[in-house]
Amino acid sequence: MNLPNMLDAKKRNSEETKHIYLDDKVSDMYKNKKYFIRTYGCQMNVHDSEEIAYILESVGMTPIDTIEGADVVVLNTCAIRENAHDKLYGFLGRCKHEKETNNHDLIICICGCMPQEESVANDLIKNHPYVDIVFGTHNIHELTDMLLNKMDNQNIKVYSMQGEVFENVKYKRDSNIKAWVDIQYGCDKFCTYCIVPYTRGKQRSRYSTEIVKEVECLKKEGYKEVTLLGQNVNAYGKDIDDISFAELLAKVADTGIDRVRFVTSHPWDFTDDMIEVISERDNIMPYIHLPLQSGSSKILKLMGRRYTKEEYLTLYNNIKAAMPECAITTDIIVGFPGETEEDFNETLDVVNACKYDSAFTFIYSPREGTPAAKMEQLDKKVCEDRLHKLNELINKYAKEANDKYLDKVVPVLIEGLSEKNESLMMGYTDTMKLVNVKGDLSNVGKIVNVHITDVKTWSMDGEIVE
Ligand code: 5AD
Ligand code: SF4
Repeated sequence: MNLPNMLDAKKRNSEETKHIYLDDKVSDMYKNKKYFIRTYGCQMNVHDSEEIAYILESVGMTPIDTIEGADVVVLNTCAIRENAHDKLYGFLGRCKHEKETNNHDLIICICGCMPQEESVANDLIKNHPYVDIVFGTHNIHELTDMLLNKMDNQNIKVYSMQGEVFENVKYKRDSNIKAWVDIQYGCDKFCTYCIVPYTRGKQRSRYSTEIVKEVECLKKEGYKEVTLLGQNVNAYGKDIDDISFAELLAKVADTGIDRVRFVTSHPWDFTDDMIEVISERDNIMPYIHLPLQSGSSKILKLMGRRYTKEEYLTLYNNIKAAMPECAITTDIIVGFPGETEEDFNETLDVVNACKYDSAFTFIYSPREGTPAAKMEQLDKKVCEDRLHKLNELINKYAKEANDKYLDKVVPVLIEGLSEKNESLMMGYTDTMKLVNVKGDLSNVGKIVNVHITDVKTWSMDGEIVE
């Protein structure tokens, strides 16, 4: 058993990142067994689940899409807000019931960000003895050995460490059109509300040569789009003797893959070189997710965000000056400790100035062990009212942004059947707008020109034109 602790998770050294090349381990020990994975949280977790799926298949398993009938259930968890905890425990209850009533041999695994929290790991030992395997964000590759050498009692291996970078990681990718590509892990920003620097460790980058090699392979396999992933994606390269993020973007664009995206950028690391390369390269998509968090410089300071309202607006204006058509989306937290009505109104001011294409909005959720959790918390009703008011404004601008597309012809990468209406195809514009398109399966994986015939707040309808 190896357990995490918050003190070690907080440590940072100045040493260059260590890169470790993984070997592929294959076994048929779990032949004819079925696995079910449920993923919570961000794109990093979604991509980690693709690694987990590969590992489960490399020991012989095949997927199933219900817990009923599964031999192994993996819950890949998120710790960013309290409601992520609630969701996990709700589903874990269902797994426990399945194990107690139908399948006593069901192997329940918990991984991802939650077990990286000391209190969660301890709770799993004390109150959830039916959970068989627990691993963290730093040792996904150890799942193979944990399965092959599983003991009857709990198998817990979670490390609080700054972290290494693994190369040669294999994935069972969810799509054969779009692929996630990790370029950077962890975060050193320590925004005062955020648990990520503790659960994901030190900011560390892959070698650019390995990243470019991966994108070249994906292109050869027929992938049309890659999204470069990092908790703090544009801090790429700061921990190793390699190229900058702007230079990496250019190299990835040079591979000739049709579409390049990246998430999530921190405004503080957003350079003029990035703006230049994104605006110059046709295959780097004109879409930037630029978390604001708050429009009040006072709150931004309390959050440890390293920029003021004015600096954020300058960056926004620089991006729009170079790329007027670029879509910009954001994350905003309301109800951070100390946020007054005036502070909140400043957030609304920035939203009015930036007219975001869309936004993820959240009520501040205290995370144990982070500095903001010790500050005086705001009244719940005040937070809810602010969130409601903010969402109304966000929705208004999202619809306005979509309205501009009506009757235009735009390129759309067709991904598959529409979830809402199986007689339609769905895909995204270069600016990441969801479009439901009349057409047949022969268009899947193609970038087609679509005439936009109707726009809603969160999607559009269109028809393919020759
Ligand atoms: N409470 C509420 N929202 C949070 N986020 C991160 N930590 C918290 C928290 N403690 C939001 C931020 C971040 C997004 C991924 O989640 O807006 O950008
Ligand atoms: Fe969390 Fe801030 Fe790092 Fe983003 S930049 S992961 S919000 S600490």
